[in-house]
Amino acid sequence: MKLHESIGDGEELLEAAVRAAEESGELLLSYLGRLQNSQIRRKSSARDLVTEADVESERLLVNTLRGLTPDFHIEAEEEVQDALTLDERPRWFLDPLDGTVNFVHGLPAFAVSIGLFVGNQPQLAVVHLPRLGETFSAGLGGGAFLNGARISVSEVDSLGEAILATGFPYRRNELEHSNLENFNRFFYDVRGMRRMGSAAIDLAYVAAGRLDAYWELHLSPHDVAGGALLVREAGGLVTDADGGEDWLRGGHIVAAGRGLHEVVRERVVH
Ligand code: IPD
Ligand code: CA
Ligand code: CA
Repeated sequence: MKLHESIGDGEELLEAAVRAAEESGELLLSYLGRLQNSQIRRKSSARDLVTEADVESERLLVNTLRGLTPDFHIEAEEEVQDALTLDERPRWFLDPLDGTVNFVHGLPAFAVSIGLFVGNQPQLAVVHLPRLGETFSAGLGGGAFLNGARISVSEVDSLGEAILATGFPYRRNELEHSNLENFNRFFYDVRGMRRMGSAAIDLAYVAAGRLDAYWELHLSPHDVAGGALLVREAGGLVTDADGGEDWLRGGHIVAAGRGLHEVVRERVVH
């Protein structure tokens, strides 16, 4: 691995992050089938939900990672947002439950997502799917892995042989571009379209070559911070929708193998 010097022993830290994600995964599984309505809250709308499981999963992750790396910053979805500082201090981005709507509806596509950054450079990544027993991990310069076995992106270079994935923002009613126009732009030209309901899984599946490309608009850093490094370390490309580097905080992301990335990116309007 070629990690920033402030990270220390990357192998050890990646293993610890995998264990933390798996512990949170166990906790999420313990809620399945017994989640009460009183444990589910609406955030911005009836589609934007948070459950007690999201919050408890985040608390567990934050506790573990603070203990391991007390000097690092944490930016998590639900409760913890350490202030930005000018120093290049490593920063954990945590999505304690990506795919909350799936989770609430009993669908198995949900994940715990962890990304460690120095500035806008991804260093370590874990995306763990507790219900499906899959853990994706990567360290900068060290390749991407699924349950310990190396993975790589697909080599498909024509839309006709490709499965594409995307997602739609919770705030779609208020936005000028809901992403539905983009969906239509690919609809008749591809082998298939998928809407997994978890950005972290979309990215992990691109890394594993199960999906050929993925794009989405209006995301948050915690949605993409883990998955993006998986794609890069599996040999794929990750950019913002203009082909630039502003995908972590910019909201828009395009991820694919080299044969398809530009073909997809140039069709995405935002
Ligand atoms: C959501 C999922 C979904 C994406 C949404 C995200 P959450 O995250 O990643 O696939 O389309 O934009 O907000 O709310 O389940 O953590
Ligand atoms: Ca999310
Ligand atoms: Ca979440």
